[in-house]
Amino acid sequence: MSKTISGFSKLSKSKKIDWIVDTYFSNKEDAKHIIKQYWNSNDKLQQLHDEFIENTITNYYLPLGVAPNFLINGTSYTIPMAIEESSVVAAASKAAKFWYDRGGFKAEVLSTTKIGQVHFIYNGKTETLKKYFDSVKSKLIADTESLTKNMQKRGGGILDIELRDKTKDIKGYYQLHATFETLDAMGANFINSCLEQFAKTFKSEAHHFELFTSEEKNIQIVMSILSNYVPNCLVRAEVSCKIEELSDDKKVSSEEFATKFLQAVNIAEVEPYRAVTHNKGIMNGIDAVVLATGNDFRAVEAGVHAYASRNGRYSSLTHAKIENGIFTFWIEIPLALGTVGGLTNLHPLVKLSLEMLHKPSAKELMKIVAVAGLAQNFAALRSLTTTGIQEGHMKMHLMNILNQFEATDNEKIILVDHFKTNVVTHHAVVEAINKLRNKKLN
Ligand code: MEV
Repeated sequence: MSKTISGFSKLSKSKKIDWIVDTYFSNKEDAKHIIKQYWNSNDKLQQLHDEFIENTITNYYLPLGVAPNFLINGTSYTIPMAIEESSVVAAASKAAKFWYDRGGFKAEVLSTTKIGQVHFIYNGKTETLKKYFDSVKSKLIADTESLTKNMQKRGGGILDIELRDKTKDIKGYYQLHATFETLDAMGANFINSCLEQFAKTFKSEAHHFELFTSEEKNIQIVMSILSNYVPNCLVRAEVSCKIEELSDDKKVSSEEFATKFLQAVNIAEVEPYRAVTHNKGIMNGIDAVVLATGNDFRAVEAGVHAYASRNGRYSSLTHAKIENGIFTFWIEIPLALGTVGGLTNLHPLVKLSLEMLHKPSAKELMKIVAVAGLAQNFAALRSLTTTGIQEGHMKMHLMNILNQFEATDNEKIILVDHFKTNVVTHHAVVEAINKLRNKKLN
């Protein structure tokens, strides 16, 4: 059977579902039931979600959890996290509480500029292009006035445009490399609109530049787009305490804990295989808050990993040191976030999450997200260098296994209690369920 279809996007939602179900499922009723089960009974709310993207057939739920007891620059926060991985929220909450009792997190925004580029091809003398750029630069900015007026009023806008010669990499390749301040907006739409206007002006004005030959007048715009690499939109978060305050576990001394912790961070600094997993753990915290607050986690991921490779080798985003008996652990990451525009005014749970965070500015949200990443990494390294990761991880995963076996509420109570003192493995849980069920039968 052919599985291509034309005009799919024009079908009604129910016709789309019919086609999907008829084409791909043997148990059609079952498939339809699963799809419809996730529809929201509030039609308006459902329509809102339907219209976020094209071809919506249903909603895909992620749990929205909260991690309380974060102290950041002296203010208490409960951080909302949208994530499916069972141990992440528990780990964040544990790290938050641990550092609450030791003075909390300190965070500061180091810079806030974003980048956009018009990529173009020009075959001619570089010197003449530079003269053209100098002569047209003020018009590039003037022509975006209607786009930048509001942003400028609030103190943001276009900061600068540079001409960059990239002909060493690709014949005839140059860029208009622009920097922007977008304040509380993530700024993608603003930046892209400005860039597309730059491109239009830059191309059309070239025809009137007297020093260009007729070939030079023909500037070819390749594309205009913001960069998700934002090394000048940086935030730093840190925790510190006296070494002797570090361990709250009688089995491990504070000194031993600090030494091993530092070794783990050092390994992630020099060993890319470890650094990727180390940073993945950081992104568990970061993505969950980025998603809960309606921000673009793909943009954040791309930018953060590029930053982790900025010195030519993929490396840790966090660092640690011990100086004069003080343990310090910190993160420095680029984050382009918004607290206005995009989903922030649309998605009810995003609005709720932002309100829970005291309606932060973009700068405040940068600090909160960086802290969530640092806390997550602290929790992971703490487990990894002491008990190992599986103990906590499997405890949290227990509920997933119980649900897989459709355990009743009563069975869950008994088995969760049983595994408080027994090691959780998939095999052990299955065995315990079977034993319990057999007992009931006898
Ligand atoms: C699992 O999602 C994340 C960890 O692997 C992170 C780490 O190894 O640091 C636990």
